Amino acid sequence: MTAQELIDRAVERLEASSAIDHWQKDRERIEAEELLDHLIGTDWKASDEIDPGVRRRFDRLVARRATGEPVPYIKGHVEFRGLKLLARPGVFVPRDSSEELAEQAVRRLRARRRPVAVDLATGSGPVALAMANEVKAAEVYGTDLSEEAIRLARQNVRRLGLPVTFLRGDLFGALPGRVGGRVDVITLHPPYVGKRELRELPDEVTRFEPVMSLTDHSPRGLGLIERAATEAWDWLKPGGWLLIEVSPDRSRTVATILRRAGYSSVRSTKGGLEVTRVLTARA
Ligand SMILES: C[S@@+](CC[C@H](N)C(=O)[O-])C[C@H]1O[C@@H](n2cnc3c(N)ncnc32)[C@H](O)[C@@H]1O
Repeated sequence: MTAQELIDRAVERLEASSAIDHWQKDRERIEAEELLDHLIGTDWKASDEIDPGVRRRFDRLVARRATGEPVPYIKGHVEFRGLKLLARPGVFVPRDSSEELAEQAVRRLRARRRPVAVDLATGSGPVALAMANEVKAAEVYGTDLSEEAIRLARQNVRRLGLPVTFLRGDLFGALPGRVGGRVDVITLHPPYVGKRELRELPDEVTRFEPVMSLTDHSPRGLGLIERAATEAWDWLKPGGWLLIEVSPDRSRTVATILRRAGYSSVRSTKGGLEVTRVLTARA
């Protein structure tokens, strides 16, 4: 059987799966190819004969994906702004859309001398790690309430050798007091789904990713954002930035929250993927 035949068969299987959210054109083909790359590397051609051992392993990976399991959990890692990060059940999978949040942060950090950055609700740490990787002079902290998330973020830090301090705690709770009033950029990609909207999310998200990474159980999913907008004042230096990633339908409400909390220059920017917005607000 050739690689092309193997991929076509996998695509059929994935397209038929009701456990997968078929939201993106060609998603099934992209994922099938990604799983084959994972097994044999990217250097294969459609006409290559695939040996039976690889075929069987590939079919097992496709069967897992057909149950809805996210590809990064199957592969054990995910790419984020050129960094290879570990991915594991129990911790939110970094999304490509969050690369825009990191981009907005990196641009602002680069304009400052020896800047300090804090990534709240850091998960496995993609945004914090990208900031440390791309702005070498930055002092970077990442915090998350989930012990699992912080454990994985610390593994990522050890593998990548980047200078990020990951701390477990509720929002700003675990940050050392000496950081107070010194922060140039705070990033936040929070759980922002309203309590009742949770059931509208695709099964492949709610069955596999931790509920605390999706909702804060407040009615409109804005509880953590409101708290961060208020509490950030104790940590930001004058002229520092609070950057928040949310869904497009929430961006106006979050902009209002930020203006009411006293921030200036409140704007909403689209990433290349346009599936989320990043709200930027200046203290
Ligand atoms: C949508 S995920 C984002 C994770 C990461 N920033 C990323 O983009 O991959 C939200 C994260 O918020 C964390 N979280 C939930 N409630 C929190 C709280 N009160 N304080 C800190 N982190 C919290 C969850 O554990 C989860 O890792």
